[in-house]
Order: sequence, then C-alpha cells, then structure tokens
Amino acid sequence: MRIDVVTIFPEYLEPLNVSLVGKARARGLLDVRVHDLRQWTHDRHNTVDDTPYGGGPGMVMKPEPWGEALDSVIASGSDGREEGPVLVVPTPSGSPFTQETAVELAAEPWLLFTPARYEGIDRRVVEEYGERLRVRELSIGDYVLAGGEAPVLVMVEAVARLLPGVLGNAESHRDDSFAPGAMADLLEGPVYTKPPVWRGRDIPEVLLSGHHGRIARWRRDQAFRRTVRYRPDLIGRCDPAALDADDRRL
Ligand code: ADE
Repeated sequence: MRIDVVTIFPEYLEPLNVSLVGKARARGLLDVRVHDLRQWTHDRHNTVDDTPYGGGPGMVMKPEPWGEALDSVIASGSDGREEGPVLVVPTPSGSPFTQETAVELAAEPWLLFTPARYEGIDRRVVEEYGERLRVRELSIGDYVLAGGEAPVLVMVEAVARLLPGVLGNAESHRDDSFAPGAMADLLEGPVYTKPPVWRGRDIPEVLLSGHHGRIARWRRDQAFRRTVRYRPDLIGRCDPAALDADDRRL
C-alpha cells in the first residue's frame, strides 16, 4: 500500500518511522511519503492560510497550494495506475472513523491524507478533487484537535496493522474489540500473563483449567460485562443469533 501525507508539519508524522508502521515500511509492505505543503507556495512567507470569507474567527487554508500539492502527488503515482488515490480528509465534521472504515481503507492500494490546520481547507478543494477521486471526510472522535496530523497517525496505524504480513501472528486481530464475528460489538475483556500470583492477586481459575469451551465462554462473559459498563450503547447492536450460534459452538 502507498500512503501520501501533505502537511505543514512533516515532523509531526515522524512517529510513522517507529514501531509497527516503521517496521512495515522497512519491510516494504508500506510506502509512506510525507510532503511539506509549503513546497507548493510561491510567496516570500510561504503563506498557506488567509482570513475567512463571511468573517468569523481563525484562518482558512488557501486552495492554491493544496491544488498544486495534490496535482503533483497524484501525477507522481499515476503511471500505470488506473485509479488515483482515495483522498482522506481528517475533519471533526466528517463521518466517524471506525474499525469498519479501517478495514475498507486497508483494501485500497493508495491513500492520500490531507491534514488541515486552522479552521480547515477552502471547501472548493474537496469539491474539485471529489470529481476525480473518491473522498472520505473522516473524524476520529467527537472532540476538536488543533489539526489533522494526530488523526492521520491514528488512522494510518489502524489501517497498517490490518495489511497482510504486518502483524506477526495472523490471528492477532481476530479477537480485537470491534473485529467481525460473534463478539463484533463487544469490548475485549481482561488479559493475564505470568507470574500466576502477583502481589497476592491470582489468575481467574478458569484460565488455568485448559478447558477451551469454558475459557471462551468466560471471555465472552467478561467482554459482555465490560461492554455494559463502558459502552452500553453497543449492547443494542449485538446480534443475538450470532451469540446463540456461538453458545452452541462452545
Ligand atoms: N481535526 C481536528 N479534530 C479532528 C478530529 N476529531 N478528527 C479528525 N480530524 C480532526
């Protein structure tokens, strides 16, 4: 997968050199290219923003540098490709970025992220590229950050770990909170490792039983309790038929 990011803070994206994403890059599973938007400005001050039409607080990112940047990035990858990238626009006014969105994006060969600062990017940019590319305007949560760079880090990590070969163990995202299956709408329950007793606290007995059916049922029960406590809104989404089928399997 190729990922391009255009930003006025390229150094903000440095965490993409570390850990899971960094390793995926080093192994050639992920081609990440970070570009400085100011490269595509032509005035002495490398201006990327201006005052909003209609008045109001804050500044708006100018369309011209974004237009030149996006044209250049798109042209750099278009040889031999039938389709351009999916344009991912992080914004608190977007649709929610969920695990389902991550799965959809992980199936794409090329993503182009446009994290904005200030009050956002002149609307005409999304209109213009919306005619040529698929555009996803995505919010990582109901809070407002100072810019879209942190959301890009979040989304790239969520997508990268789903790419084939990136996680060591192919099974390791099977039981994730929000992964598809009977537990799809339940949060993950608690996990334990050695030593068997730590500061007088021991491991739930069932986990030492070696009884796979009882362990699976216990895990589901824990997941259910945790979901009721922290995310009661998810309980209504559980599919009783899938849970019944799971019961029979256990
Ligand atoms: N930019 C600022 N806040 C954001 C959010 N919550 N999600 C995505 N992009 C943002």
